[in-house]
Amino acid sequence: MEEITIELAKELFRSEFADVRPISGVVANLVVYTAFTEPGDKIFALPISKGGHISAGPLKSKTGSFIGGTAGAVKGLNVEYFEFNEEEMNIDVDKSIKKIKREKPKLLMFGGSVFLFPHPVKEFVETAQEVGSVMAYDAAHVAGLIGAGLFQDPLREGAAVISMSTHKTLPGPQHGMVVGKKECFEEIKRATFPGLVSNHHLNCVAALSIALTEHLKFGKEYAKQIIRNAKKLGESLYERGFKVVAADKGFTESHTLLVDISEYGDGAAIEKELEKANIIVNRNLLPWDIREGRHYEHPGGIRLGTSEVTRLGMKEQDMEEIADFMKRVIIDKEKPEKVLNDVKEFKKSFQEVHYCFETAAEAYQYIKIRK
Ligand SMILES: Cc1ncc(COP(=O)(O)O)c(C=O)c1O
Repeated sequence: MEEITIELAKELFRSEFADVRPISGVVANLVVYTAFTEPGDKIFALPISKGGHISAGPLKSKTGSFIGGTAGAVKGLNVEYFEFNEEEMNIDVDKSIKKIKREKPKLLMFGGSVFLFPHPVKEFVETAQEVGSVMAYDAAHVAGLIGAGLFQDPLREGAAVISMSTHKTLPGPQHGMVVGKKECFEEIKRATFPGLVSNHHLNCVAALSIALTEHLKFGKEYAKQIIRNAKKLGESLYERGFKVVAADKGFTESHTLLVDISEYGDGAAIEKELEKANIIVNRNLLPWDIREGRHYEHPGGIRLGTSEVTRLGMKEQDMEEIADFMKRVIIDKEKPEKVLNDVKEFKKSFQEVHYCFETAAEAYQYIKIRK
């Protein structure tokens, strides 16, 4: 079963190897750190405020306050940040290259938890070779889009490996995985076992094999609709008066939207109000929040994702309805309990899971496990 899952993962990600044993996205990142770095080494990643994930964070900030990120706290790595261009909402290539040449990190960690646009990867290949950095890409969020051939193609762009969790835009079980180029296979395998897993949650691997099979069959259609819905939701919110980040750039190329809601309250309060109406979003730091004195518990933004609603069959016209519900709660300050009734009514038409086989047997037939 593990071998079948490995083959499916290789096919979906067009990779030379896959290790399906890491039990989560954080563990997959630790596998990458263990394969390519030693404690005390320097790595580059994005800070949380610019879309990075805590698993690529340092132990402490430059000013000494506790962060507790996995890379620093668990692996003892010295985390430096990519430079970020707030206008482009992306890594600043020129400034980051200068910093990499100066700092000579062992590992460049692309990807993250909030990125609207593909990260520049091929732009760093030459510099990475020059200073001896391995290029890795954390696709926890965008794995399903990448597997479907959309968003970007990190392995072809120059990344040696992609780490991921398997339960976001790739709609599988809660699990992790690393795929990549064959020259890294031995290091990744050794880092995974004996480094990071002993027994490795085969129940999740079984579920992952089904999810990968479904994504091979339905992923393109699903991922396309996720991105269409995200763009449409961005546009619909913008038309209703929301400050959607990157409006001048078409809002997003991924499943994610970032909305500056600081004029209506803070991200925590808005998140709670929306939840009362059964609209689930999360508070999120905006790239400029820390500079403006905001804190991650009370940030100026909310982050939205369209993978779940798309999976339930929603299309572009439904994004307009969602934007209306959000406007009623956040801008019009209607009682969320009242909006809740309309949300429940709307949701009644979306009770089935789409982009999947009707039965497990169909998945088996699809991959021709049975002789
Ligand atoms: C970019 C990124 N990496 C890693 C993780 C961690 O994944 P997991 O929760 O599967 O450990 C996340 C989860 O939010 C993430 O966004």
